[in-house]
Amino acid sequence: MALSKPHGGTLINLWEPNYDISGLTKELEIDGVALSDLELIGNGAFSPLTGFLSQKDYESVVQNMRLASGQIWSIPITLPVSEEQANNLELNETVKLVHNGEVYGVLTVEDKFTPNKAKEAEAVYRTADLAHPGVKKVFDRGDVYVGGAIKLLKKLKRTKFESFYLEPKDTREVFENKGWSTVVGFQTRNPVHRAHEYIQKTALETVDGLFLNPLVGETKSDDIPADVRMESYQVLLKNYYPEDRVFLAVFPAAMRYAGPREAVFHALVRKNYGCTHFIVGRDHAGVGNYYGTYDAQRIFDQFTSEELGINLLFFEHSFYCRKCENMASTKTCPHDKEHHEILSGTKVRELLRNGEIPPSTFSRKEVVEVLIRGLKNQEIHS
Ligand code: ADX
Repeated sequence: MALSKPHGGTLINLWEPNYDISGLTKELEIDGVALSDLELIGNGAFSPLTGFLSQKDYESVVQNMRLASGQIWSIPITLPVSEEQANNLELNETVKLVHNGEVYGVLTVEDKFTPNKAKEAEAVYRTADLAHPGVKKVFDRGDVYVGGAIKLLKKLKRTKFESFYLEPKDTREVFENKGWSTVVGFQTRNPVHRAHEYIQKTALETVDGLFLNPLVGETKSDDIPADVRMESYQVLLKNYYPEDRVFLAVFPAAMRYAGPREAVFHALVRKNYGCTHFIVGRDHAGVGNYYGTYDAQRIFDQFTSEELGINLLFFEHSFYCRKCENMASTKTCPHDKEHHEILSGTKVRELLRNGEIPPSTFSRKEVVEVLIRGLKNQEIHS
């Protein structure tokens, strides 16, 4: 086997540091999510996208989970701006994309349109409820979407964990140099607890390498901050994973909490990073009770494996069973629920924030120590 081909066949590269912007006068201020999308379009993580979605692609993605070309794409990658900003833009002109006074890219305006956000929310998030953090974000952002091709001119400067920011072309090289021909990608926005470890290692029993690829872009405020998580991943890998079988690098995208649709998006992006396999467990990318436990697995039934181009590894809800004295799932454990160690994410965050230690059957003690310390430091500094 070989590493997966990028989605659409070619790894997009729109990095043009020498692009001449001296003739461009207009600046378009973009928000943090658009900045991270710009970077991920530019470095090929979002291949085959070459820009922010035009109206034709947007409507097709919202309605059919496909670009107008027919290729699968499940999350609209849009550039929302205010009406005032939109009025200042002419079709076909190229403008500088600016964030906090720095020019990060350029965009050639292909179209500008007013989306039906309620329709977008219902289709993509399966709800228009503003209590859903992804939906709220859609409504909070600008009311006009600008579509068009981009160029990436400047890369974001990272002060922390810089060495973990790898682009798809780099991760592909890493996997090849390691001699891996099968690689399983793992998305997470949480610390890696025992259930995560269990499904990762179960997958790793059948493939060459594990790509631990935590999402570190914008997340909701009560999720554990990325820098605390990064330390916890390192300590976990050092103590419990074979060094030559796992590779850690970050996915600097914003979390959408779009459950099933986001699972499809996460899988396609990991294909672009070179993964041949991708893990989808219980309630992938979910939040609250908006999605059924296995909706994010069922959604893949709508596509053929050829067009997906990455193998999905589905896992049942996993836990520690006191009777089995082992990690297990309902697929492998015959015992009643009362024997299972199940803690909700909210409950765990509450324990950690109070400096209380969740059981070692839930999370490794080295991980817990890092999390408690990290969260305490944060409180001191906030
Ligand atoms: S996510 O929002 O990034 O998907 P999280 O970090 O909780 O959330 O999950 C990472 C991956 O592990 C997802 O594929 C999720 O479905 C899976 N997962 C999380 N907890 C469990 C569990 N207890 N059993 C099985 N799969 C799980």
